[in-house]
Amino acid sequence: MQHQLVASVLNADLARLGEVCAGLERAGLQAIQWDVMDGHFVPNLTVGAGVIGACRSATDLPFEAHLMIDAPEPYLSEYVEAGCETIIVHAEACTHLHRTLDMIHEAGAKAGIALNPSTSLDACLHVIDILDLLLVMTVNPGFGGQRYIETMAPKIAAGRELIGRSGRDIALEVDGGISPDTIARPAAAGADRFVVGSALYAKGDPAVVVNELKLSLDPTEAGA
Ligand code: DX5
Repeated sequence: MQHQLVASVLNADLARLGEVCAGLERAGLQAIQWDVMDGHFVPNLTVGAGVIGACRSATDLPFEAHLMIDAPEPYLSEYVEAGCETIIVHAEACTHLHRTLDMIHEAGAKAGIALNPSTSLDACLHVIDILDLLLVMTVNPGFGGQRYIETMAPKIAAGRELIGRSGRDIALEVDGGISPDTIARPAAAGADRFVVGSALYAKGDPAVVVNELKLSLDPTEAGA
């Protein structure tokens, strides 16, 4: 299974976001995730499409927007226009989730669903045929630097089974508390895409952590 490492910039140096994005590309990340929060769906407020668009020219890495906002439909096209190729909405925040995913595709992006730790995989059963990415949250959304919730492993494994039965190429992403110490466990459960935030910035150079993450995923990848 090909593993993808995605950088969250939620806890990066926000005073240098453009340079941070360029540095993440050099460090070997495969994508950048923007954590968009409205202070209502989650108890925190972060960046909008304007900041994302301002950073678009700083890197060639794909952008994905993780919309932790209630009723995201009116804003979807803004994030596509800002340069995000994937838009992830929370199943808990969308009254008409099937329509919302269709709207993301109509706007020209890939469509992802994020599930909070307490939300059942059943929430995506009837939209699996129009899904490009399933994000199993491994923390309660709103903040970086939280502890990985170990009890999400069975849900990740069930997500991998659901994707297998669908016969579709759907990314299974995890987000929250991912580090060199934890990443092997969601990987063993079936995740193939890992959002890493705080851990990336803990040692100064994200490239050092990228190598540690790769080592944890596959000890034979040392120095890859
Ligand atoms: C939570 C956010 C975080 C962030 C990464 O709402 O979605 O999960 O992306 O956080 P850490 O610092 O845990 O990697």
